[in-house]
Amino acid sequence: MKNINPTTTEAWKKLQSLAEQKKTTTIQSLFANPSRYKDYSIQFEDILLDFSKNRLDDEVFKTLMDLAKETELKSAIEAMFSGEAINQTENRAVLHTALRNRSNTPVKVDGKDVMPDVNAVLEQMKKFADQVSSGKWKGYTDKPIKSLVNIGIGGSDLGPVMVTEALKPYQNENLDIHFVSNVDGTHIAETLKKVDPETTLFFIASKTFTTQETMTNAHSARKWFLENAKDEEAIAKHFVALSTNGEAVKEFGIDPNNMFAFWDWVGGRYSLWSAIGLPIACAIGFDNFEKLLEGAHAMDKHFRESDFGENIPVILALIGLWNTNFLGAASEAILPYDQYMHRFAAYFQQGNMESNGKYVTRNNQKVDYTTGPIIWGEPGTNGQHAFYQLIHQGTQLIPCDFIAPAISHNPVGDHHVKLLSNFFAQTEALMNGKSLEEVKAELEKAGKSKEEIEKLAPHKVFEGNRPTNSILVKKIDPFTLGALVAMYEHKIFAQGVIWNIFSFDQWGVELGKILAKKILPELENDDTINSHDSSTNGLINAFKEMRK
Ligand code: F6P
Repeated sequence: MKNINPTTTEAWKKLQSLAEQKKTTTIQSLFANPSRYKDYSIQFEDILLDFSKNRLDDEVFKTLMDLAKETELKSAIEAMFSGEAINQTENRAVLHTALRNRSNTPVKVDGKDVMPDVNAVLEQMKKFADQVSSGKWKGYTDKPIKSLVNIGIGGSDLGPVMVTEALKPYQNENLDIHFVSNVDGTHIAETLKKVDPETTLFFIASKTFTTQETMTNAHSARKWFLENAKDEEAIAKHFVALSTNGEAVKEFGIDPNNMFAFWDWVGGRYSLWSAIGLPIACAIGFDNFEKLLEGAHAMDKHFRESDFGENIPVILALIGLWNTNFLGAASEAILPYDQYMHRFAAYFQQGNMESNGKYVTRNNQKVDYTTGPIIWGEPGTNGQHAFYQLIHQGTQLIPCDFIAPAISHNPVGDHHVKLLSNFFAQTEALMNGKSLEEVKAELEKAGKSKEEIEKLAPHKVFEGNRPTNSILVKKIDPFTLGALVAMYEHKIFAQGVIWNIFSFDQWGVELGKILAKKILPELENDDTINSHDSSTNGLINAFKEMRK
């Protein structure tokens, strides 16, 4: 990949002056153009993206496209899809797209086509998932499996959690699914209370098979299981491993036939399409898992082949960049108006922040511009009654993505139209706001005194002009969800390319892990600790004192 400081491009300089020149242009005023909505929205499969409610006119849009060209985004996309080692700090290719390459065209890493291996693991997953979901896979007392427990963290947890929650209407009724991620013993203890060792299948999900949290939880699950089964041989019927580390899996005592492999070119936070997706395939059926892959593949093709001006992930990436680097936004909210998607923002919190939370460029220098934003969000309408106050009237600019399905899986009474009326109302309110004149007129009409109006009116004004994207989909089904996830993945990638950072490593998580390892033995004795700064020493010693 090229090494281009985006701030040195013509487009970046122009965008800076456009941001200054157009400071007073409101989103509302851009709608003087009667074809604004038509020009600033795109339909792809069952996904409609409306990006017209942004502080963005034709000139800015064109210049953002120029920025993508000048930073050679097109060749970076090709480099990723064709298996170049674009994760340069780990010397790895980045090929989550090969995992869902339904056209099955060869994808080469170091000259070797990875597709035969990808297909072989998919076939192994299909056989296993079919056996589990049909009840043919039996536990050590010959009963069919009822409970699936995934033990993993980060990318080995969030993807399967998010997808199985989002696609709950597709879940096999004979199975329940649980996720244990936190090393806090409460997580495994509370989960084990809900399941029966005779009918529980554990998925030990870890790319490295060394992650402290996962291995600790896996050993506790194994111990609990053996206390009940009292037979090491029974483990083969109740424990499977999803990993790249065959040696460590064997050492843990999992039957190699029960290992589902993936490869170092699959990043943890991009791994739900790999063997890490096995609990998804068991819970919703392999056919539906395949549809999820197909949706993602369709978005991959769209991203790779469409012109930037019609390319959804590229447009979202550039709008995000405009908001972050030129309008000063520090965070982005993802707000799904779909209760099943309640973990979607959490999923992309890792996806985005672990990918683009970097301050060193591909040229090994410190950046002098802002990179990845803070990602957060909750489902609507709950968020409206919690944090939307700040989005509407706070001092920070918070660009928001509103996501909603037209068709609900639960058409109960008028719930869905009520939900969607809020979805439409929020973006309109955020754009238009409410002027002082309007507020005053309203208060006058309500019979308030002049004095009361003077006091109250400023608090009731909404400045508006807050940017949003609306993503309206027909229904949250496996295909559409796959496409939506791939859409955000590619947005993140495109931004990382333009910011000239490496989006596929995560060195920033290491330091804390190393220090925790050093501190652990200090907590396991009665000595007074003085090897740290006085705050850390004080806290550790107080902790020990409290436990006496
Ligand atoms: O802590 C960061 C991280 O490395 C993530 O990137 C990853 O998804 C997670 O830990 C879990 O790693 P593993 O799958 O190797 O257990």
